[in-house]
Amino acid sequence: MKTLDLVLPDTRYPIHIGQQLLGKAELILPHLKQARVAIVSNTTVAALYLEPLLSSLSQAGVDCLPVILPDGEDFKTWETLNQIFDALLAQRCERGTTLLALGGGVIGDMTGFAAACYQRGVPFIQIPTTLLAQVDSSVGGKTAINHPQGKNMIGAFYQPKLVIADMDLLDTLPERELSAGLAEVIKYGLLGDADFISWLEQNMAALRKRDKQALAYAVEHSCRMKADIVGQDEKEQGVRALLNLGHTFGHAIEAGLGFGTWLHGEAVGAGMMLAAEASHQMGWLSEADVARVEALLQLAGLPTQSPALGDAAWLSLMAHDKKVENGEIRFVLLQSLGHAVVAKLPAAELEHTLHSRFVQQSA
Ligand code: NAD
Ligand code: GLY
Repeated sequence: MKTLDLVLPDTRYPIHIGQQLLGKAELILPHLKQARVAIVSNTTVAALYLEPLLSSLSQAGVDCLPVILPDGEDFKTWETLNQIFDALLAQRCERGTTLLALGGGVIGDMTGFAAACYQRGVPFIQIPTTLLAQVDSSVGGKTAINHPQGKNMIGAFYQPKLVIADMDLLDTLPERELSAGLAEVIKYGLLGDADFISWLEQNMAALRKRDKQALAYAVEHSCRMKADIVGQDEKEQGVRALLNLGHTFGHAIEAGLGFGTWLHGEAVGAGMMLAAEASHQMGWLSEADVARVEALLQLAGLPTQSPALGDAAWLSLMAHDKKVENGEIRFVLLQSLGHAVVAKLPAAELEHTLHSRFVQQSA
């Protein structure tokens, strides 16, 4: 097991990465205020992994309340969030009860938001079960639910006490979800580490075969980069915005098609393709650079062509992005492969991007 530390001005927490970690109650016990946890999961993940977690915690004397939610991005809503509050109140959970998120990014984001709100804040722990959640959403304290008009629009910055990333849990992940997670892994290379892009080109086949060493390296490298960025800018006043590479376009795809139609990681992959094309339109990336991004996304099994939303819908959906400043959309673009910046995209370059071969022009 490897352990990274995320260090913030007023807290720090460990990120454990390894195998056979789910049954190790001793990793969790030191972080509990009371011997009581609410394990929030969904129907799919609970069927696979609730029992081993429950039995190891119960054997260690911890009272466990499972809260099992419906599965899917379209359930990342107020109504589902309320189911968590209903269960906590019905069982008279106190401020010392720790919420334990067992699931992918949807469960992690909702559990974190519930923990931020319940009795004005209770501790929470992340046990991410998708690659996407292990490399990104479980780390850094962004918690949220969706609003029909925009992705992750209602939420809070609220840090977990601990993150446990167990590579063994990825064995059961559907292939499409593995590819979606690889989009966020590729993101780290494109935004800040050219050597990691080369590593990914060489190791993508091993990652897709779920080689545990390759996966652990990718998770560790991604978490290290994320911890470094979040450590500098917890509330996204500056450098943290770079972690949104591909997300302005990607969130528009998710909301435009209806949440859950495309996976978040797929939308981010296609969004990074558009960010690369826009960076080419700005004169920053060469055609060869754009082709390299396209090839890497394809190696990961990700779509490189966005769906046809129509220009008006693209603009209106992207206007809800959290990076919009004084009504102007700002994008994360690439000055070179491995070096991202936040920039405005002039109307002509945006139009060329949306009319490039990377966007379907009719449904
Ligand atoms: P998800 O949580 O919907 O999980 C994907 C699917 O895989 C679900 O059907 C889930 O039940 C299933 N699953 C999970 N673990 C499994 C396992 N081990 N075996 C078999 N099936 C399993 O999706 P996701 O891709 O993990 O997360 C996407 C969400 O994360 C989006 O809502 C996105 O906005 C959010 N996100 C948040 C941040 C952040 O910083 N907070 C960062 C990136 C993404
Ligand atoms: N996933 C983007 C962030 O955590 O800032």
